[in-house]
Amino acid sequence: MSVQPATARAGANIALVKYWGKRDARLNLPAAGSISVTLAGLETRTTVSPLPELDADELMLDGQPASAERIVPVLDRYRMLSGQDQHCRVESTNSFPTGAGLASSASGFAALVVAADAAFGTRLDAARLSEQARLGSGSAARSIFGGFVEMAAGHGDDGRDAVAHPLLDAADWPLEVVVAITEIGPKSVSSTDGMNRTMKTSPYYPAWVDSVPEDLERARQAIDATDFEALAEVSESSALKMHASALAAQPGLLYWNPATVACLHEVRALRAAGTGVFFTVDAGPQVKAICLPGQGARVAGRLAGVDGVERVIETTLGPGAGVLT
Ligand code: PMV
Repeated sequence: MSVQPATARAGANIALVKYWGKRDARLNLPAAGSISVTLAGLETRTTVSPLPELDADELMLDGQPASAERIVPVLDRYRMLSGQDQHCRVESTNSFPTGAGLASSASGFAALVVAADAAFGTRLDAARLSEQARLGSGSAARSIFGGFVEMAAGHGDDGRDAVAHPLLDAADWPLEVVVAITEIGPKSVSSTDGMNRTMKTSPYYPAWVDSVPEDLERARQAIDATDFEALAEVSESSALKMHASALAAQPGLLYWNPATVACLHEVRALRAAGTGVFFTVDAGPQVKAICLPGQGARVAGRLAGVDGVERVIETTLGPGAGVLT
């Protein structure tokens, strides 16, 4: 097997049916499935260079030295799979503003596992790459694929069936996405900590998990029929239910600020007036607006005018992760 530097890219993804809770924390096995869209414009590019002279893995993140703690287990698995024991220099850059509180772990781990696969010559198929990405971050399993993607909760204890698969190509329903940044700075409580607290203390957590399979079915049908209204209903409901379960944790997880809430009202007002748009919100204060093709610019203009919105990013759905060199 060859060992050589390799570069890969992967897009961030946004869940429409949310992942919030694990059935196994060590292997990042989700308690329920999820459905997302992969984005074109918000991407991570990562180069993995196995170097015989290194005695530990090194990480450069957006040009700055960073802790390699979360990437060492990923590289260890590639060393084991390939039978090669070289340590690596990993250089990773995000196309989206750092410190804007946008999740970079999904695109980051997806780009890392694809680059490491090429660097170590392990040639894993897409399902196994998705499994490797999941071990880094649950949502990263979905960024291996483009367009509309479903992540399975899986049944086994080893995680081999807890992987993502594509539902529909971006080109077959080219929705647009506007991200409204309402707060610059790191998240208050990470997704992992927020999920743990919700699982342990929220009386609504069991009801949340029980409700996901029906949402997955509704979202699958909406995507299959390219029915925007139906997708809007199930996606907004999933996001609000996820936050309801988190709000009911002890102490309650309140990820929203006033501008977040103002954006949700603005999106609903736009939809009521005939614009094809719906919202979703992850474990932070930013609002993601999913728009019918051709409506992103109008939505971006309106959200940019909401009090407290620092900036907006417009993008489209994009392809899955892939090797660049
Ligand atoms: O992949 P993690 O551990 O960062 O969790 C992601 C959780 C949410 O973004 C809130 C929901 C999701 O499905 O992406």
